[in-house]
Amino acid sequence: MSTRPRVSTRISAISESATLAVDAKAKAMKAAGRPVIGFGAGEPDFPTPGYIVEAAVAAAREPRFHKYTPAGGLPELKQAVAAKTLRDSGYRVEPSQVLITNGGKQAVYEAFATLLDPGDEVLVVAPYWTTYPEAIKLAGGVQVDVVTDETTGYLASVEQLEAARTERTKVLLFVSPSNPTGAVYSPEETAAIGRWAAEHGLWVVTDEIYEHLVYGDAEFTSIATAVPELGDRVVILNGVAKTYAMTGWRVGWLIGPPDVVKAATNLQSHATSNVANVSQMAALAAVSGDLSAVERMREAFDRRRQTMVRMLNEIPGVFCPEPKGAFYAYPSVKELIGKELRGRRPRSSAELAELILEEAEVAVVPGEAFGTPGYFRLSYALGDDDLVEGVSRLAKLLAEAR
Ligand SMILES: Cc1ncc(COP(=O)(O)O)c(C=O)c1O
Repeated sequence: MSTRPRVSTRISAISESATLAVDAKAKAMKAAGRPVIGFGAGEPDFPTPGYIVEAAVAAAREPRFHKYTPAGGLPELKQAVAAKTLRDSGYRVEPSQVLITNGGKQAVYEAFATLLDPGDEVLVVAPYWTTYPEAIKLAGGVQVDVVTDETTGYLASVEQLEAARTERTKVLLFVSPSNPTGAVYSPEETAAIGRWAAEHGLWVVTDEIYEHLVYGDAEFTSIATAVPELGDRVVILNGVAKTYAMTGWRVGWLIGPPDVVKAATNLQSHATSNVANVSQMAALAAVSGDLSAVERMREAFDRRRQTMVRMLNEIPGVFCPEPKGAFYAYPSVKELIGKELRGRRPRSSAELAELILEEAEVAVVPGEAFGTPGYFRLSYALGDDDLVEGVSRLAKLLAEAR
């Protein structure tokens, strides 16, 4: 008998996506007839705008889209993404610097696979989105956490980044607005971080997928535009999922210098080939159109954000800084850990989240999924009534903690 492991060591080290797992458990409970309210999902509750769906329907009827197309994306979509990047970020790129990917997730994987050699270090601000560590690990990279907390609104400073930098640091991952915290760096903070990265010859991988979801006086700043000194060591990740309520269509992109894009395209040509043409044509309609649909969603998210943050901060033991972007609140629940609740004493935010799901039928994602135990992530991309009902249930249950 072979003593070799059945599943490779590299792949068994990958954990299940905690956010998808919470969402799946909540959906299963719902299907079994329980009135679960889910704050787990990272997706808008709106349908994709009609004009985008119509573009997909028309594309499905065209025989040329029934065939393989270039692995790196339809030329017309690459062109439109380049134009959109100039419009929204003021960043000028050639269509040849765009790679169309199967959602932002594939862009994340391909960026790290293309940039990292074994042992290369990546600075990652924690709390971080749950997918980054797996993509970095799989590429042989070493993640170095730069931990932030609620006292700074989850923003990292140049001093913190510098303290984490070593001779092996190759990449800074910069995500603003952030999933899971909703933190948004100001233009000045963005520029300072970018200049520091440029000064030390680091690459910056920047995930701009929430660029259009910012609130109040917060402003989205593309680090690529803010810091021209970064030169050709910037890789931008983006996609249509969050801006156009298109999570299920699976279209994202990677923008970078020609050598990186060429290499990543080679990888994609063997892994998945072209993204589904119908989805690419839907994305083309999305990025070439105006931003009125996202503006309507943004207004609804802003209203829900304010309600959620107010209600969360009224719960004893919960503290939630104001998220400035994306559609997540990231409250600290540290004061509640170890307290007695319904005959149990949860010792971690993961255990507390489990108890809440069972007792209040409310699904939240524990901070363990984002590298910082002691917190919850709650998405406010759900209907206003459900949001109020869910947070009220949470408040009622947590009031019993002793
Ligand atoms: C920060 C961030 N980047 C990228 C993605 C990828 O989105 P998709 O693969 O659906 O395009 C997500 C989705 O949750 C995200 O939150």
